[in-house]
Amino acid sequence: MARCRALLQLGATAAALWSYSVLPLLMVTAAPTPECCALLAQAFPGDVSPRGTDVWTFENEDFWSATEIRNPSCVFLPDSTEKVAQAVGLFVANECRFSIKGGGHSAIPQAANIDDGVLMPMKLLNTTEVDLEAGSIRAGMGLLMRDIYQALDPHNLTAMIGRYEKVGMGLTVGAGISYFFNREGFAVDNVLNYEVVLANGSIVNANQTSHPDLFRALKGGNNNFGVVTHATLRTVETEGAVYGGVVYYPESSIPQVTDQIYDYHTRQAVEDTLTHVLPQYGYNGTSNESIAFCPVIYNRAVDELPEIMRGWVDTPYTQSTLKKRPYADLAFELHDGFPDRQVQEQRVFTVYADADLYRDVWAAYHSWLQQWQHIPGLYGLHVVMPITQNSLVASYSKSSNVLGLNDNLTNNQTLGVLYFGLTMDSMDDTAEILPAHAEFVQSMIDLAKSRNLWHPYIMLTYSGWDQPAIASYGPENVAFLYEVQAAYDPTHVFQRLVPGGQKLPEPGSW
Ligand SMILES: Cc1cc2nc3c(=O)[nH]c(=O)nc-3n(C[C@H](O)[C@H](O)[C@H](O)COP(=O)(O)OP(=O)(O)OC[C@H]3O[C@@H](n4cnc5c(N)ncnc54)[C@H](O)[C@@H]3O)c2cc1C
Ligand SMILES: *[C@@H]1O[C@H](CO)[C@@H](O)[C@H](O)[C@H]1NC(C)=O
Ligand SMILES: *[C@@H]1O[C@H](CO)[C@@H](O)[C@H](O)[C@H]1NC(C)=O
Ligand SMILES: *[C@@H]1O[C@H](CO)[C@@H](O)[C@H](O)[C@H]1NC(C)=O
Ligand SMILES: *[C@@H]1O[C@H](CO)[C@@H](O)[C@H](O)[C@H]1NC(C)=O
Ligand SMILES: *[C@@H]1O[C@H](CO)[C@@H](O)[C@H](O)[C@H]1NC(C)=O
Ligand SMILES: *[C@@H]1O[C@H](CO)[C@@H](O)[C@H](O)[C@H]1NC(C)=O
Ligand SMILES: *[C@@H]1O[C@H](CO)[C@@H](O)[C@H](O)[C@H]1NC(C)=O
Ligand SMILES: *[C@@H]1O[C@H](CO)[C@@H](O)[C@H](O)[C@H]1NC(C)=O
Repeated sequence: MARCRALLQLGATAAALWSYSVLPLLMVTAAPTPECCALLAQAFPGDVSPRGTDVWTFENEDFWSATEIRNPSCVFLPDSTEKVAQAVGLFVANECRFSIKGGGHSAIPQAANIDDGVLMPMKLLNTTEVDLEAGSIRAGMGLLMRDIYQALDPHNLTAMIGRYEKVGMGLTVGAGISYFFNREGFAVDNVLNYEVVLANGSIVNANQTSHPDLFRALKGGNNNFGVVTHATLRTVETEGAVYGGVVYYPESSIPQVTDQIYDYHTRQAVEDTLTHVLPQYGYNGTSNESIAFCPVIYNRAVDELPEIMRGWVDTPYTQSTLKKRPYADLAFELHDGFPDRQVQEQRVFTVYADADLYRDVWAAYHSWLQQWQHIPGLYGLHVVMPITQNSLVASYSKSSNVLGLNDNLTNNQTLGVLYFGLTMDSMDDTAEILPAHAEFVQSMIDLAKSRNLWHPYIMLTYSGWDQPAIASYGPENVAFLYEVQAAYDPTHVFQRLVPGGQKLPEPGSW
């Protein structure tokens, strides 16, 4: 606990100084990691790669954001649940610090990587087992979304997972917005079983009948309770194909696109739950141009958009890739378009859907971004995702997550999740722009509050490193998470030794 508190105090200092260069200070004193890596190499010869080797270099750089490239002491690549369990035993016995990496798509520094510790990518846990009778797929936590779409497409099935091919399984312990979100709710609520390695090195199944408290805690609890090695995901039937693609709009269409976005949030997604749109605005600092580019999807094997979605193609656009195709094909096309290892920063907050607010927030972001054109490679991305009443009803009718979004608390209104993302070429520019970005996003939160439109939820999977995502679930859920922690991880292994990413808030700190 003392260590944990020290860590958080340093975290507060880092927040005040606000620069990535101070983050290495977050290092906690534990066993010297070279020793940990030597012990690990003894126990698992062949699975451990020391600093400087090709495998180390590859794994250390295999991240979406440059902010995640760190300096681990070694890389450990377990290829079985048993090896993960034995390794956790070794880490705990020797106070070794480690990170848990899925697809590496978090932008939070050290969410899935670590300085002077063991980087543990799950990538060799990569099997899929489709159970047609049960309507589920058991998937290794090292898989990427593309693997799951490819495993399910031939059966005319799909799962409630991320939309982009390269994203990893981390979203199954975070929140998770899928193509079927409007009908089926969050990814976490469509997980039927987590196979978990606990702090004491034992392997358990967490599901509705076995360790149901842990099962619930993982539905939003991130890496705070154990290493998940496999997840069993509910599948749903498809018509063998989906109609979808990306529609690109010129700057002159943006006012109309904004109207479409509001209509999608409050009418299209509400009245037809097979609709799906990922509304995005982009600002390119190099060209000083803005566009909107929206993945537009209808979850049926049709040849054109249904009437209710026609506004997306009636609005003047420059390019559309809409067509009937397999889900895997769509997931491949929806790759974000950025090469890996750019500098990425993201922040998020939630509001009640409101047309004026949506218009004003983009206008403000657009003009804020224009001040930073001089930063090489600057790109600003603003995404506006709905959480409809029905997606909450679907979520909570299947399970009870810890996100604090009880459908009875939203007054049957759609929520809007507002995402603000920055991309740039060099870490050198972060010290200047990131504190200003945090301030800008705070000013948008204040604007929403002043209009009585703010909602406290912070979606963990899109959150900034210093945004209190888990605290945003509310006191009852956090109290529940502390109880589960006391039962499954009484010595706080997954805070002390796994410092990365969104952690449980320190008691009394919020
Ligand atoms: C281009 C892009 C597209 C995206 N699209 C979507 C989308 O369509 N829908 C959506 O909901 N989100 C989406 N996201 C957000 C995404 O859900 C999060 O970034 C998520 O954290 C990614 O998981 P990962 O495994 O790739 O990341 P990682 O960075 O590897 O992991 C994220 C966190 O989860 C923890 N974690 C990972 N695996 C395990 C495990 N096995 N056990 C315990 N803890 C674990 C890690 O320790 C880390 O803290 C997208 C992000 C990007 C960058
Ligand atoms: C799983 O990992 C093994 C070992 O790297 C690799 O040979 C295999 O192709 C992978 N399978 C999938 C589905 O990615
Ligand atoms: C739940 O866990 C129990 C105990 O391990 C296991 O027998 C059962 O198959 C699990 N259920 C699911 C849906 O995975
Ligand atoms: C999938 O759906 C297509 C289109 O309806 C059909 O032709 C095909 O036989 C289906 N495949 C399976 C495995 O059900
Ligand atoms: C931004 O604009 C420049 C100049 O037109 C172009 O080369 C670059 O590809 C654009 N970046 C993105 C991410 O679209
Ligand atoms: C960038 O574009 C805006 C219009 O969106 C324009 O007002 C501004 O002058 C442009 N800046 C430069 C440097 O071209
Ligand atoms: C919402 O209220 C209804 C009716 O009172 C109740 O049945 C349901 O369980 C509540 N939902 C949640 C998530 O508490
Ligand atoms: C919620 O709103 C929808 C659409 O406006 C309406 O059809 C539905 O009956 C409402 N549900 C409740 C519980 O009020
Ligand atoms: C490990 O912890 C779990 C959860 O608290 C407990 O059920 C199990 O008995 C423990 N196993 C050992 C070997 O201590």
